[in-house]
Amino acid sequence: MRKKIVAGNWKMNKTAAEAKALAAEVAALVKAEVPADVQVIMAPPALYLDAVQAATAGVANLAASAQNCHEKASGAYTGEISAAMLASAGISYVIIGHSERRQYFAESNAQLAAKVDAALANGLTPLFCCGESLETREGADYLAFVAQQLTESLFHLSADDFAKVVIAYEPIWAIGTGLTASSDQAQEMHAYLRGHLAKQYGQAAADACSILYGGSCNAKNAQELFACADVDGGLIGGASLIAADFITIAKSF
Ligand code: PGA
Repeated sequence: MRKKIVAGNWKMNKTAAEAKALAAEVAALVKAEVPADVQVIMAPPALYLDAVQAATAGVANLAASAQNCHEKASGAYTGEISAAMLASAGISYVIIGHSERRQYFAESNAQLAAKVDAALANGLTPLFCCGESLETREGADYLAFVAQQLTESLFHLSADDFAKVVIAYEPIWAIGTGLTASSDQAQEMHAYLRGHLAKQYGQAAADACSILYGGSCNAKNAQELFACADVDGGLIGGASLIAADFITIAKSF
């Protein structure tokens, strides 16, 4: 049985007071309403990680995640936060390779491989993002393009380390656009990626890997997406900023 996961990527949103309030609201609702076998994750701006993590106390299936980390352990990298620093603050998850990081901060597959290594070396669970642009989607090779992202950023991992990775497939054309992949499109990609993982790590390891869908997943479409055989949850942007919507999504399995 794969782990069911719903992670909220708050991106660069919320003031400190708003972040605290949202985390508290989510925590209360997770405790009251979300089944224990669904892992819920909140990924606030790094500034609020401490406060958000404090709000998860006493809710077994709720955790805080960073949105990014640097690949180096420490040093002269102004503005950056290392995986070691996150781990030292008790954070257990980190989003790596979000398309906005790839696009606006020019993060390459090779750099993301180093970030995955840093996360795993520090005991963090990487939520590794992959996904294709609209231009790639309209061509013939979109499946292979996304598979290649996994190859270049994950396939150097040992089987033991790979087993700790969560993957999020996020078609860039669906992120923040209100345009969701259809459940057929999501299932096609997820099944293809699982097959790709099986070639490298074997079927059992591929079957154990949670692959989340992201891209305009919301309270209305989550149920249909999560019903797909190879969709194991969601990475939620906009809809994670409203506690009630986010919780509806977390209850959509
Ligand atoms: P969205 O963002 O749900 O707002 O489309 C998803 C993401 O970027 O993780």
